[in-house]
Amino acid sequence: MKCACGKRPIDIVMSHILKIMMEEDIVPETATLRRNSPVPLSGFYYSSLNPQFIGEKSLILLHPDFTKEVASRLISEVPEVKCVLKGSPQITVGQRDKISDISHFEILEGDDTQINVMRTLLGDKIVIVKKQSKHHIEVAMTTEDKLVRLHNYLNNNNIKKATAIDGMCGLGALGIYLLKCGFEKVIFNDVNPEMIDALKYNLEINGICEGYEIFNCAFEDLEVDNADLCVIDAFPGVDVVEIVKKAEELTDNVVII
Ligand SMILES: C[S@@+](CC[C@H](N)C(=O)[O-])C[C@H]1O[C@@H](n2cnc3c(N)ncnc32)[C@H](O)[C@@H]1O
Repeated sequence: MKCACGKRPIDIVMSHILKIMMEEDIVPETATLRRNSPVPLSGFYYSSLNPQFIGEKSLILLHPDFTKEVASRLISEVPEVKCVLKGSPQITVGQRDKISDISHFEILEGDDTQINVMRTLLGDKIVIVKKQSKHHIEVAMTTEDKLVRLHNYLNNNNIKKATAIDGMCGLGALGIYLLKCGFEKVIFNDVNPEMIDALKYNLEINGICEGYEIFNCAFEDLEVDNADLCVIDAFPGVDVVEIVKKAEELTDNVVII
């Protein structure tokens, strides 16, 4: 069931994956794509309007019951699969807040590197590289949506483009965008040192070699001079009262994404 270009539609690929999971007794014979599929993490865009044809080595799979044996079968029998991770999609991978431990998914087999190319309203693209076993799950479309909201905020408010803070910067997309928007300096900060490593790499591959400072601490404890803008992007469900209070001490313009 391949297209002339050699790619298969994602529902056929997921059916193939589910069939192997049934044979390996990870899911029952009555399993359905909707209820029992592993989470597919990918560098490509999903569209509900068009069938999605996907290429070789383009899918990272996540499921709590995967085993080494299943991972090995998925990698060798399903050409679209590039990595198999064990873990619960319900947990926040990375560091959820100031007091949480850092959590990871287990890499059973393959390469967990994912590359997202984000379109922006500046006509320029931002490339974000992540390691899916240790960096949070966020599809490219969600990050693009955050960039649009930031863009609209800047368009609708007369902000001086001197210094901005990306207070919970993660992989760096928002701060990189602010630099591309013309801010003279962006202060990147994240509590998780693994995010800081990824940020440095992402700055480099986006061709940014100056105009920034990097801090690795809880935002609540960040000690920097006042800025013109502060962007806060916490994980869903995290209590941001203290974080917003701190942001308001640093600037009059706080954007909670
Ligand atoms: C939703 S993610 C940010 C996503 C980010 N905008 C990006 O483009 O990757 C939230 C980030 O907040 C960080 N974080 C959680 N609690 C924090 C805190 N108290 N201070 C600073 N960073 C924190 C996490 O490590 C994570 O990278």
